[in-house]
Amino acid sequence: MIKFDYKGVSSDVIGEENGLDIEKEFSDYHDRITQIIADLNQRKDKPGQWLQWMNLGYNEETVWYVKEYASMVENRFDNILVLGIGGSALGGLAMTEALLKPYWNFLTPKQRQNFPRIFFLDNIDPDSMQSLLEMLDLKRTLVNVITKSGSTAETMAQYMIVKDMLEKELGDEYRKNIVATTDKQTGILRQLADQEGYKTFVIPDDVGGRFSVFSAVGLLPLALVGIDIDHIMQGIKDMDLALKNTDIHNNIAAQNALIHYLMDTKKGKKISVMMPYSSRLRYVSDWYVHLWAESLGKATNNDGNIVHVGQTPLKAMGATDQYAELQLFNEGPNDKIINFVRVENFDTNLEIPKIFEYTGIGYLGGKTINDLLNAEADSTKVTLSNHLRPTVTITLPEIDGYNLAQLLYMLEVQTAIAGELYNINTFNQSGVEQAKNYTYALMGRSGYEESASEINGKLLTV
Ligand code: PA5
Repeated sequence: MIKFDYKGVSSDVIGEENGLDIEKEFSDYHDRITQIIADLNQRKDKPGQWLQWMNLGYNEETVWYVKEYASMVENRFDNILVLGIGGSALGGLAMTEALLKPYWNFLTPKQRQNFPRIFFLDNIDPDSMQSLLEMLDLKRTLVNVITKSGSTAETMAQYMIVKDMLEKELGDEYRKNIVATTDKQTGILRQLADQEGYKTFVIPDDVGGRFSVFSAVGLLPLALVGIDIDHIMQGIKDMDLALKNTDIHNNIAAQNALIHYLMDTKKGKKISVMMPYSSRLRYVSDWYVHLWAESLGKATNNDGNIVHVGQTPLKAMGATDQYAELQLFNEGPNDKIINFVRVENFDTNLEIPKIFEYTGIGYLGGKTINDLLNAEADSTKVTLSNHLRPTVTITLPEIDGYNLAQLLYMLEVQTAIAGELYNINTFNQSGVEQAKNYTYALMGRSGYEESASEINGKLLTV
C-alpha cells in the first residue's frame, strides 16, 4: 500500500502559527469525518449524487469489454490518438506517462513489444495539431474520441478535422479507426457514433470528467498500449477498502483532506503544491490540479451562502523545481502546503561512475542517481520545515499500475471529503460553463444568440 506521512504539518515541527496539533484536530473532527465517510458510502449508489466513480474499481464488465476490444485491435495500429480535454484526457495522460516505459513514443516497435505509440491531443493549438496530424500515418492510427457531454467544442472540432482526414484517406473503412467514449445515450457524439457505426464505450452515469479515470475514459487507452488493467483495478479495490474505514486515524484520504482544509481555513495556506520526485509522475500533478481546482473552487456553499472557497493547486517537480519554485516556497509568502510524492524503488538503479575523483564533483562517483534524488527530497523537506512551511509526504513503494491507482483513487476520495468539509458541491463546475457558453456564442452556435450579444458588448470593455 502507499504510505502517508503528516509529521511535516505538526506544530511540534513548524510551530503553532503554521502547524497543527494533529492529534487534537483528529479527535475534534473524528465524528464529523466518520459521518462524512459513512454518508459518501451510503449516497454513492443514489442517482444524481455523482458518486458512481466510487464503484468503478468493481466494474468488471467494463474491464472485460475494454480488454476484448484491445485484443481485437492488437497489431492493427501503430498509433493511438486520444482526442479529449480536461477529465477526458488528463487521467489517461497521467497514467500512461507513469506506467509506460519513459520516452515510449521514441522506442522501436520491438522495444514496445509491438504495442502502439500514444498521443493525447488535449488542446487546440493549430500548429501542434497540424504537425501531429501530418506526422501520423492515419491509416495506422486508432482515434479514441472522448467526451462525456458529447459536445465540448475543442474535442468536437478535433474530431471533425480528424474524421474528415480519415474519411478522405480510407473511404468508408474509416469507421474502423474511430472508437468513441461517451455517455450511453445523450450528446451529439453519441448520436454521431451510432449513426456512423463506431465502436463505443460508455462513461457511466454520475461519473464526472475529473473522476472518470477508472472508467473506459482511462482504461481503454491504457489497455490499447498493453498496460495491465487488472492490476490497476486491484489497486483501486484495495485502496477503496482501506478508505471505507470511518476512523480518521486509519484513513489517509480523510487525513490529507482534513489537513488541507485546516491549513487553508485556519493557517492561511491557500495553495496546495503537488511535488512528485519522479518525472514519470509529472502529469499526475496536472491531473491533481484539475481535480482539486474544479472540485473545490466554488462561489456558494450547500446552504446557498457566498463563500468563494478553494485552495489553488500548483504543480512542482522534484528535483527540477528546486531550482525554480523552491526559493519562493521557502522565503516567499507562507501560504502553501506542499505534497511530496516519493518513490521508494525505481525500476532502474542508475550508477554515477567514479570519475573526476579528485575534483569537487568526486563525491558523486560511486553513488546512484537514486541516492541523489532521495537526498534532494530529504534536504528539501527539511529546509521547508526549517522555514516553517508545512509538508505532507505520500510514498509509493514503486511506480506500477497497482500503486498509481491507489494514489489517484486516494486523491479522489480526499477531494470528495474536502468538499464535504467545505460544505460545497464538489461535482459541479458552474464557473466553467459561462466561458463555454460564450465560446459557443462567439462561434455562432444557434441557441446562444443572447450570450453572443452580451459578450460582444463586454469584449469592448475588457
Ligand atoms: O471534470 C469535468 O467534468 C470537466 O473538466 C470535463 O472533463 C471537461 O469539461 C470535458 O468535458 P467532456 O468530457 O464533456 O468533453
